[in-house]
Amino acid sequence: MQVSQGSDPFCPASVAGICSVQVSQGSDPFCPASVAGIGPRAVRYADMSDDLAALGPLAERIPPVLRATAAYHVPVPPTLVAKLDANELPYPLPLELRTKLGAVLAEVALERYPDPAARQLRAAAAKHLGVDGEQITFGNGSDELIAMLCAAFAGPILYPVPSFVYYRMAAMNRGLPAVEVPLGPRFELDEAAVVQAIRERKPSVVFLALPNNPTGTLWRMEFAVELAAAHRDTVIVSDEAYLAYAGVTNLDHVAAHPNLVVMRTLSKIGLAGLRVGFTVAHRELAGVLERVRPPYNLSSLDQAAATFMIEHAMPWCEARAAEVVAERAHLAAALAERGFDVLPSAANLLLVRVVDAKAVHAKLSAAGISVRMFGPGRLSDYIRITVGTPAESAALLTSL
Ligand SMILES: Cc1ncc(COP(=O)(O)O)c(C=O)c1O
Repeated sequence: MQVSQGSDPFCPASVAGICSVQVSQGSDPFCPASVAGIGPRAVRYADMSDDLAALGPLAERIPPVLRATAAYHVPVPPTLVAKLDANELPYPLPLELRTKLGAVLAEVALERYPDPAARQLRAAAAKHLGVDGEQITFGNGSDELIAMLCAAFAGPILYPVPSFVYYRMAAMNRGLPAVEVPLGPRFELDEAAVVQAIRERKPSVVFLALPNNPTGTLWRMEFAVELAAAHRDTVIVSDEAYLAYAGVTNLDHVAAHPNLVVMRTLSKIGLAGLRVGFTVAHRELAGVLERVRPPYNLSSLDQAAATFMIEHAMPWCEARAAEVVAERAHLAAALAERGFDVLPSAANLLLVRVVDAKAVHAKLSAAGISVRMFGPGRLSDYIRITVGTPAESAALLTSL
């Protein structure tokens, strides 16, 4: 089986078209041996791109897989009318909550290191989730948890494509082989292909975004649980970043499966600026993640703010997310009425097929509306629109 994906301007690995990863390949671009430069350094720095060549012989120390990549880049229109490119919640916290939060943050002892065990936040999150505090691992956003999962378990990393770009980046950064399983024509999950790839490549970690970004599609939730039951030597991650918009979770199954990890983030429910995510798993698995967690990964301000939000702001977050779910239906219907092919979505985003994505992106950008576009490949004819406020939808529809 061959697994591959087209390139994505936001994915460092794909910029130079090196994202095609063969499931059954002999030489591996992610191989730590070649990454570490144990083999011959085939390309001399003088032959590299100007920015790398400027580093001189040091450039030859950069792992080959990183040399052709670019940093994560989000273009910003000159004037911003509607920011619909990062799947954030469009609503700021109300003044009352801000004021109370400000008072809490004013008391934080910034002269001290943060609590490495995040005890207050842990207690608040455990109570909120109905789990034991020892089951929770905190990350500087779920991005960091993805990287920690790749660091904690040795072996290939499997994920469907297209999916969240950081799965690939995290695998690449660890020098791990990436096993990419293409989604079907309507971005449905090819369960049989995933099972076959697990059997053949024996990944250490499988990431399933439920629902998926950037497609918004919600695959069968139970599939993650079935994989966990069938492959005890593989960590199965149920990435529930968009839980507030999908309303379904595998949290209840964690107790029965020592290799199932539920991953959540506060980013999509109004707190993207905080950078707080967490996983819930068996305490033993959480203990392994703790071994790779940077001790002070959550600042004292992060911890205090997240604790406050969990204790006081969840009803507000949930109510605003419900508004976005309603707006998703309006916007999808309005776009479909205009003849666009809109993928069904269970997240706060819509993947929309357009005739000329670059032109649409440029037109919207000129109108101050920032949406996500993709490079050549599978998603080249699509734009991804974050569902915002009704006013932002109106601005988008006027400018399209
Ligand atoms: C599926 C998925 N998982 C994880 C993340 C990372 O979220 P954060 O690092 O902000 O917690 C995102 C962000 O877009 C995402 O779409």
